Amino acid sequence: MDKTSEKPKSFCTRLCQGKLCIPLIAVTVLAGIAVALTTVLTSSSVRERFPPDLKWWQKSIVYQIYPRSFQDSDGDGVGDLPGIISRLDYFTYLNVKALWISPFYPSPMRDFGYDTTSHVEVDPLFGNLFDFDNLLREAHKRDIRVIIDFVAGYTSSDHPWFKKSEQRIEPYAGYYVWAAGKTLDNGTTVPPSNWISSFGYSAWTWSKTRQEYFYHSFTPSQPQVNYRCTELREEMKNIIRFWLERGVDGMRVDAIAYMMVSDQYYEDQKPSNKSGTQWWQLAYWIPSLTQNVPDIGLVVKEWGEVLDSYDDSDSDTDHSKFMVVELYDPPKIRNRYYAYGADMPFNFDLIVTMNPVYHTYCDAICIRDVIQEEYDTLPDGKWANFVLSNHDNKRASSRLGSLYTDALIVLLLTLRGTPTTYYGEEIGMEDIVVSFAETRDPWGINYGPDHYQEVSRDPARSPMQWNSSSNAGFTEATKPWLPLHPNFRTINVETEKNSTEMATIKLYRDLAILREEPSLQYGLLTFGDVTPSILFYLRSAQDNPDYLVIINFGNMTLTHDFSGPPVSKAQGRVKVATSAAVNEKRFYLNSAVTLSSVTLNPGDGLVIELQH
Ligand SMILES: *[C@@H]1O[C@H](CO)[C@@H](O)[C@H](O)[C@H]1NC(C)=O
Ligand SMILES: *[C@@H]1O[C@H](CO)[C@@H](O)[C@H](O)[C@H]1NC(C)=O
Ligand SMILES: *[C@@H]1O[C@H](CO)[C@@H](O)[C@H](O)[C@H]1NC(C)=O
Ligand SMILES: *[C@@H]1O[C@H](CO)[C@@H](O)[C@H](O)[C@H]1NC(C)=O
Ligand SMILES: *[C@@H]1O[C@H](CO)[C@@H](O)[C@H](O)[C@H]1NC(C)=O
Repeated sequence: MDKTSEKPKSFCTRLCQGKLCIPLIAVTVLAGIAVALTTVLTSSSVRERFPPDLKWWQKSIVYQIYPRSFQDSDGDGVGDLPGIISRLDYFTYLNVKALWISPFYPSPMRDFGYDTTSHVEVDPLFGNLFDFDNLLREAHKRDIRVIIDFVAGYTSSDHPWFKKSEQRIEPYAGYYVWAAGKTLDNGTTVPPSNWISSFGYSAWTWSKTRQEYFYHSFTPSQPQVNYRCTELREEMKNIIRFWLERGVDGMRVDAIAYMMVSDQYYEDQKPSNKSGTQWWQLAYWIPSLTQNVPDIGLVVKEWGEVLDSYDDSDSDTDHSKFMVVELYDPPKIRNRYYAYGADMPFNFDLIVTMNPVYHTYCDAICIRDVIQEEYDTLPDGKWANFVLSNHDNKRASSRLGSLYTDALIVLLLTLRGTPTTYYGEEIGMEDIVVSFAETRDPWGINYGPDHYQEVSRDPARSPMQWNSSSNAGFTEATKPWLPLHPNFRTINVETEKNSTEMATIKLYRDLAILREEPSLQYGLLTFGDVTPSILFYLRSAQDNPDYLVIINFGNMTLTHDFSGPPVSKAQGRVKVATSAAVNEKRFYLNSAVTLSSVTLNPGDGLVIELQH
């Protein structure tokens, strides 16, 4: 049937093909052994060093800014870089010291900036490079680090590289993943293999210009770049250098699992036989040839070296450059990225499990297990992290219900590991309801009026709620790019800050300050006897007060005895409590609490200091 069985042709002069791959494989194996040896040799000393020498990205919360929705400065209804600059003092108030800014690069905006036409410019919608430099300078002045979003795996099909690649203009000819089709016995040409895109159907699209297929993990307007091409690899490293030269503190790498595919373009994936899936869906297949292919490790290692070469830290200054990579895989797969040289792979397990879309219910025992798994599977000497929400998912407060908004913040900010906060989470922002007519997310639009709500990411991307004025202080335009949540007159930064009562933003800030205490910053985490409703754990670092964290994730008022192990104390002092618990005068901040009988309403959370 299949006449084309030879390997794809090489178009790059130093493309990794055939024999050239062998030394690279040897390098990987050697590097792997070296990593393993280093781990064995250093792990005991890492454990002994106390207090640990933490980097800035281990100490701070990382705050994700979705620039379209944060602050508009020029009245066009879309947020921009000068808008972010005007809000930098807000992070000083919150005690947040690291920002991740989602893409602001030139883009036809078919995927709102994740489809770039240049990695080294700013889309006029968001400002210009001068604004970016200004943002960086102003952030650094306030001791706030800034990391960029590195869209590594693909470009827009409008990118000049792709246009030239289609025309086989060197050196761009090999910049993307190209393959001739397979010719069937009856003369029909079909894609080289059965690989499926994340959005369904073939991941191969025919280029009339080039008379070949190109690969795309996502939409056909997002062609995959080819890291087996040396020139492309260098090009991407130069992009990283470009931003490091400007002074950025690191990068978040987008969709890393999909960044490379096997070089065996003609090999088919095997079916997973997952029930409820169909051949045209990605989940129907075992993605061994298109996701997390081992060669990604070589590229990540090279990026790590570039980042390290810009780290001029000394004993007084921490200028380390941070790399966090995005993938949704379980620990067994995502933890490989630590060995590749990333500082951490995002841990989205709390998004995936605490999500009624996928699971009917994740009770406190389930939450405990998800957290414990992160610690149990963490490679020696590596650092954990947790995320509740981002621009691709429903907000946590909307997944669980607003009763648990504060409790979720108590959870996120008291775990051992770096927390990532999605803008607005700190004030309790919730998803908006968007009509099909107002839908902007191309994914939603593609699904049509009957199904757009299943996939549209617009609900979690509504404008930041700054105050109770029209458009919540986000824009002076008559209409922001997405509607505001109708609750903005009560749920907003200013009203919450000004409130004489406890409010989500104050809870967040109190925790952001308290988590600088050694026990919360790096102390051990020990779970107590968790029930389906009551999650509780102890954070402890030697010679420092312990902190007991208690959260009622259930739906009934319960009285519980916390005085037994691992607490073994009769009394503590309430340091932080969720809004309702304080406002209803059930708990008083800085007052003593008797641990043998603590009564908690659903959604109540407490952080209790325990003196030795
Ligand atoms: C050629 O064969 C394929 C696979 O059997 C079939 O889908 C296609 O319709 C055929 N084309 C023609 C022109 O007969
Ligand atoms: C899926 O089903 C096919 C056909 O029944 C079988 O050959 C294959 O082994 C199955 N794959 C898995 C992962 O179970
Ligand atoms: C809300 O914010 C906007 C933009 O900063 C400002 O113009 C407006 O005066 C603010 N409203 C109040 C009530 O502070
Ligand atoms: C909040 O407080 C600030 C200063 O304390 C004040 O300027 C502002 O008008 C207040 N806003 C509201 C909504 O009360
Ligand atoms: C209360 O929680 C239990 C699980 O603990 C669940 O089965 C039940 O449906 C919940 N009830 C309500 C009203 O949410």
